[in-house]
This record gives sequence, C-alpha cells and structure tokens, in this order.
Amino acid sequence: MRRPIIAGNWKMNLMPGQAVDLVEGLWADISGYDAVEVVVCPPCIDLPAVSECMRSGDIRIGLGAQSMHWEESGAFTGEVSPTMLLGLGVTHVIIGHSERRQLFGETDQGVNRKVKSALAHGLVPIMCVGETLKQREAGETEGTVTGQVNCGLFELGPQEISTVVLAYEPIWAIGTGKAATAQDAQAVIGVIRSVLGEQFGEQAAGSVRIQYGGSVKPDNISEIMAMPDIDGALVGGASLKADVFTRLVRFS
Ligand code: PGA
Repeated sequence: MRRPIIAGNWKMNLMPGQAVDLVEGLWADISGYDAVEVVVCPPCIDLPAVSECMRSGDIRIGLGAQSMHWEESGAFTGEVSPTMLLGLGVTHVIIGHSERRQLFGETDQGVNRKVKSALAHGLVPIMCVGETLKQREAGETEGTVTGQVNCGLFELGPQEISTVVLAYEPIWAIGTGKAATAQDAQAVIGVIRSVLGEQFGEQAAGSVRIQYGGSVKPDNISEIMAMPDIDGALVGGASLKADVFTRLVRFS
C-alpha cells in the first residue's frame, strides 16, 4: 500500500512569522490524522523558524525545501546545500519544479544530479515533471514526461527509486485554476508508472508514490485521489491557507 503524500509548495510567499502561524494553524487542524503524509515546503529563509516551531511544538509534519544544489559546499552563489537543509531538520526537497526549469534554466541533467544527491543525503526528493500547453497540443505529452522521468532517474537503482516521490504537474495547469481532469492525470501517471516498471521492475514501480499537481483545490481533490495510480498532490496556491490545505489533507 502506498501512503498518500500531500505537499504544500509555498513558493516565494510568507515571511517567517506568517510561515510559523500557518504551520501552527495547520497542525491544530490535522494532528492525529495519519491517513496522509503531509509536507510543507516554505521558502528557505523561513526554514529555521518553521523547523524550530515544529520541534518545540512537537508538530509532526514533513519539512521540505523548494530546491537545493547537489554539492555540500563551495562557490555556488545563492544556493543551499543538502547538508545545510539537513541541519535545519528538512526531510524532503522539491527538485525540478517547472518554475525552476523554465525561469532558472534547470536541466534534466541537473535534476538527475540533485535527485542523486538528495538520496545520498537521506532527503526524499519530490521530482517534478510535466509538459507545456504547446507540447500537449502537439501530442507530445507522453514523450516529454517519459524523457524527463528517464533522465531525472538516470543511473538510479530500484531500491533508490522506491524512496523518490514523483510529481506530475502539467505546466498549463499550474496556478491557472484549470486542473487536468482526474482521467487525464491518471492517463499520464499510469504511463509514468509503466515506464518505471520497464526500467526498475514492477515491484519498485509499484512502490513509488506519484503525485498530481496543478490547480488542486478542495473541490477536485477527491476525484483526483480516487485514481488508481495517483498517490497524492503537490499544491501551490491552495496550500497557503490552513483551512483550505486542511480540506485537501482530509479529502476522504
Ligand atoms: P498550484 O501550483 O496548485 O498553485 O497550481 C502547483 C505547483 O506549482 O506545485
């Protein structure tokens, strides 16, 4: 059985004090609810405050970063390293979000290095893949997504990939209010799982959790989560309010 994982990607929003308020508000609503693994991914600058509030308040929610470099230290202006994240109690890291790929030039090769580094440091990578509207309209969705999965997981073994969380996020659905239909999301995620099966064997492929992301809201989460291959959601806008995110976590 794959335990669903719902992660909030706060992107470049919320100051440290606001981030702490949100985590405390969320925990007040979901503590004791274990059906779903919950992760929040605040901006880096908020991580120390959120980490401290989780520690002192015994708040058992996963703490994720939104990106990282693959090296532990060095001349990489503006970056944070896996060891720095570990030092703050971070457990998960989003890798290869489409905004990183499109706006900051991240490549499949870089994504692969980061996934390997995250795994080597005991962080759970949430590796994002997804097609543009143009690619979808040209019938290139499967090819694009399959290529991103294969490159991102290049040279990993079955054992390692069972730890990886994948997030299928069609770019045209992110922040637009136009989510993919549950059936369309299932179709692509089903393809991803069969690609994993060919590469890593059925057992490993069956254990990888694959999220859907892109305009997930309280009114579409149940339909999405009812799909056989969808094991959670990566949520942007709807993760910024405790009451709304709580409704996602308690979808069932
Ligand atoms: P959204 O963002 O939920 O606001 O569409 C999803 C994401 O970018 O991870």
